[in-house]
Amino acid sequence: MEKMKRTHTCGELNASFENSTVILNGWVHKNRNHGGVHFINVRDRYGITQVVIDEDATEELKAKAEGLKFEYCIAITGVVRKRPAEMVNPKMSTGDIEVKALDIEVLNTCEVLPFMVSETESDAKEDLRLKYRYIDLRSKGMQDRIRLRHEVAFATREFLIGDGFYEIETPTLIKATPEGARDFVVPSRIHPGKFFALPQSPQLYKQILMVSGFDKYFQIARCYRDEDPRGDRQLEFTQVDLEMSFVSADDVYDVVERMMKHIFAKTMNVELAVPFRRISYHQALNSYGSDKPDLRFGMEFVDFDAIASDCGFSVFKDAVANGGNVKAIKVDGAAESYSRKKITELEDQAKIYGAKGLAWMKVAGGKLDGGVSKFFEDKQEEILSLFDAKDGDLLLFMADSWKVACTALGAVRVKVAKDLGLIDPMRFEFAWINDFPLFEWNEDEQKWDPAHHMFSMPKPEFLSSIKSNPGAVLGDIYDLVCNGYELASGSIRVHNPEIQQEIFDVVGFPKEEAEKRFGFLLNAFRYGAPPHGGIAPGLDRLIMIMSARESIKDVIAFPKNNNASSPMDESPAEILDEQINELHLRVVEEDK
Ligand code: AMO
Ligand code: AMP
Repeated sequence: MEKMKRTHTCGELNASFENSTVILNGWVHKNRNHGGVHFINVRDRYGITQVVIDEDATEELKAKAEGLKFEYCIAITGVVRKRPAEMVNPKMSTGDIEVKALDIEVLNTCEVLPFMVSETESDAKEDLRLKYRYIDLRSKGMQDRIRLRHEVAFATREFLIGDGFYEIETPTLIKATPEGARDFVVPSRIHPGKFFALPQSPQLYKQILMVSGFDKYFQIARCYRDEDPRGDRQLEFTQVDLEMSFVSADDVYDVVERMMKHIFAKTMNVELAVPFRRISYHQALNSYGSDKPDLRFGMEFVDFDAIASDCGFSVFKDAVANGGNVKAIKVDGAAESYSRKKITELEDQAKIYGAKGLAWMKVAGGKLDGGVSKFFEDKQEEILSLFDAKDGDLLLFMADSWKVACTALGAVRVKVAKDLGLIDPMRFEFAWINDFPLFEWNEDEQKWDPAHHMFSMPKPEFLSSIKSNPGAVLGDIYDLVCNGYELASGSIRVHNPEIQQEIFDVVGFPKEEAEKRFGFLLNAFRYGAPPHGGIAPGLDRLIMIMSARESIKDVIAFPKNNNASSPMDESPAEILDEQINELHLRVVEEDK
């Protein structure tokens, strides 16, 4: 190895190295023989360099080159020379030069590949990519995203430490934290029948750190939740977990805005505009049909109730009469793009969200046209001016209860934007969503649930009515959303035992149960707990958004598949009977 130890990386050489003798180590990315001249592209994580075996090379060297296969790991000694002008490749950092090979050493061979290493993204089936993740990770796309992730983690630490935060680790073998998902549990060998839980987040521990006086805490923390994996969810994921003492929501917004600004500037050279806009939960649903609206495009909802309440189309009229709403959007110039069939596709999308239909009209010749326009002959002017509509526009309407009308039309809004290519993947539209209800009504169980978690503070004006009117209580809870995703959630916390007790009472959490499950937190609060609050951006989701991907698997080195397992190491797997016995467990036969 010593002889052929690399002197340079495969992304480093340019014309200034002309005539230098160099050694490169890397993988055979391409190997082609053009009429006696051999070209080998050698790749490492820094780039690709073209190596040439000239016609005048020794037979031995030519034979070595001939024997190279995809992804052999090799060492090459050679001399850097400029490429002939017509061969210069401005797309490659090393595109000005090539290396004339003097010697080749095979460091390791490679079996026939299950799929090719891609210059961009692999198009192999996902489970195959995950089984051979080490090969998949060699693709340009994966390499770029893993690098971005590393850089974002570094920029995050750089910013937070610079801002006076301490990075403190909290345990991963803990007592279950009530974040609302199912826990992963770890049986205790030493304490038969007892279990640790893996943290769903460091929530309780970071709050306790506030009691200890570490007034600015952060941790790039692994979190574990036993839920079904999907696009933006994994069983284990990473949070940039923050907590601060003596703060209001505004202070949390400020830190996170400055942190995001730093991260985007440092790692992507993107200048984010701060402060981010703030939208109440109600307004987000009312205007965009989502509590995580994608703000990269317009199509804000238009309120059609006034016209609907007095019209000849009974679906609209009845909806308003029954206390519901009619919400609408105008899609600029889209009348042509949406045939009846395509509108039916939108309607199908809406029905997933409980809609009963999707009504439409087009604008042509200065008049409403098609769809339900026949019911609105007498209201043409009023409608055109309400929407500020012009020829070629498409109007879409949804009548239902407020929540269904908003969420179903919200889904239509997003589908239209995708259909029409209105979304710029490299734009980042952040917003704070706040004024969330503190409690959510659980229809199935006929009880109140905490909307975020049980430790969020009600806004001051609701402190006297927590128990008397839970449905109306707004919490000091905030989400950071970006491009249609919930990126972070947080709140100002309850640090006062009486308010905490009222919240437990509303959600029907018995005192004894609270004491048993997180008595340690409630105890800590009796010893001079400071007012505090925090937030936790999901690191995986952040990288996914920054790299414009739609799955967080694309930004995690070794993710689980949608079946909650890892095709590479075949986990979860059975364990030895001895281990089972030692852990005082019994596996039910039919589950094996
Ligand atoms: P929450 O449960 O909302 O809040 O999580 C915060 C953020 O973590 C990310 N996230 C996930 N990412 C990938 N896969 C998952 N399964 C997953 N679940 C959550 C999201 C989300 O916005 N302790 C509180 C935070 C606080 O109050 O400070 C918490 O965990 O980006
Ligand atoms: P109908 O008169 O039932 O044939 O419906 C006429 C149009 O109204 C169709 O395009 C339906 O999809 C649509 N529609 C039905 N119910 C609703 C609703 N609740 N909101 C919006 N459009 C609806």
